[in-house]
Amino acid sequence: MTVHHLSRPNSAPASLFLVLLVALSACAQPSPPVPPGSLAVDLEKPGQDVLLTYWLNVYLDPPRDPLSANVLYHSDGMYYLAPEDSIRSKAPGLLPLLTHEFVDWDIFSTFIQDTWHDAAGHPRSIGEWIERVGNWREAEGWLRIPVKGSMSPYERVVSVQESAVRHALSERSRGGALIYPEGTLFVADHMVENQIMETTIMWKRQSDTWDYVSYDGDGHLTDRIFKEPDPLQSPIQCLGCHRGNRAFEPERSFPAPADPGPNGARYIDVDNDARDAVVTSVMNEHMRRSDTILGLYATIFLSRVRVRVLSGRGSASDSLLLMEQGIPVDADAS
Ligand code: HEC
Repeated sequence: MTVHHLSRPNSAPASLFLVLLVALSACAQPSPPVPPGSLAVDLEKPGQDVLLTYWLNVYLDPPRDPLSANVLYHSDGMYYLAPEDSIRSKAPGLLPLLTHEFVDWDIFSTFIQDTWHDAAGHPRSIGEWIERVGNWREAEGWLRIPVKGSMSPYERVVSVQESAVRHALSERSRGGALIYPEGTLFVADHMVENQIMETTIMWKRQSDTWDYVSYDGDGHLTDRIFKEPDPLQSPIQCLGCHRGNRAFEPERSFPAPADPGPNGARYIDVDNDARDAVVTSVMNEHMRRSDTILGLYATIFLSRVRVRVLSGRGSASDSLLLMEQGIPVDADAS
């Protein structure tokens, strides 16, 4: 039996070595060595790994993590794109990057701005989205919430299908977070009076990835969204606020009104039925932003349900929906 072997003086160091080796290989997956001919990448940005895996994912077929597919390598805090033959076979859309001697933020962001939408297969026009999902501007079953806030000087009408919000709520009631199903589309039409000036979209292409796409007032794909003093570069500048943890108005103050901002009044234009303080604090949706979504869709949806229940107009499934979310269904609780 092994105890006997281990107790032999000569075998002790060898066994110890083996034990160490097994322990080491169990806890550390060493990253593969960087092959000769790889191209150095340094974006000099915080969260470089997140940025690279997020943006490069769609150039692989099928879209996937470029690190585990050995299209991207990581060593000593630096990143490298695989040599030309690997890129040619696994992610040919990245070949133009290899004409550079080094990839910095300028080269990378220009490349993403020029090629990313094509690589991801995004529609060139708003009309194609409408064909895919129906017309959010008038169809039944969509929440449409007018908001004026921090992202745009325009008023935005943000639309999302009610069924997607219900789905995210059922994820949450099963002990998860407010996570929207694959295929969910958020559309924000930026308005002046009744005219659509531009449209921004977040589309859940894969279970863990939202794509950002913008269109001009004629419904054509665009690479900039109006903002002062400089336009927002779309899509490359879309990640910052949605992935960050800064709180924005008017969501932060809701259901109380927000103070005016640099572009005048900031508001979420919904009636009192949609402003339940209990629901707002239980959901804490803007601060939690569990799915990088910054607006208050579940809060507004559930507030309306709670008003129905409290006024005796609610159905049994309305009450159940609230209870599943841990929201009290009697007025005394508020
Ligand atoms: C300055 C921070 C900021 C940047 C940059 C930003 N957003 Fe947003 N976005 C917000 C906030 C805040 C909301 C919540 C609604 C509102 O207040 O307008 C939002 C909401 C959205 C929504 C509705 C879904 C949600 O999260 O509520 C979409 C779609 C959207 N943004 C798309 C984009 C696109 C496309 C870009 C890049 C062109 C972008 N965003 C860049 C702050 C930002």
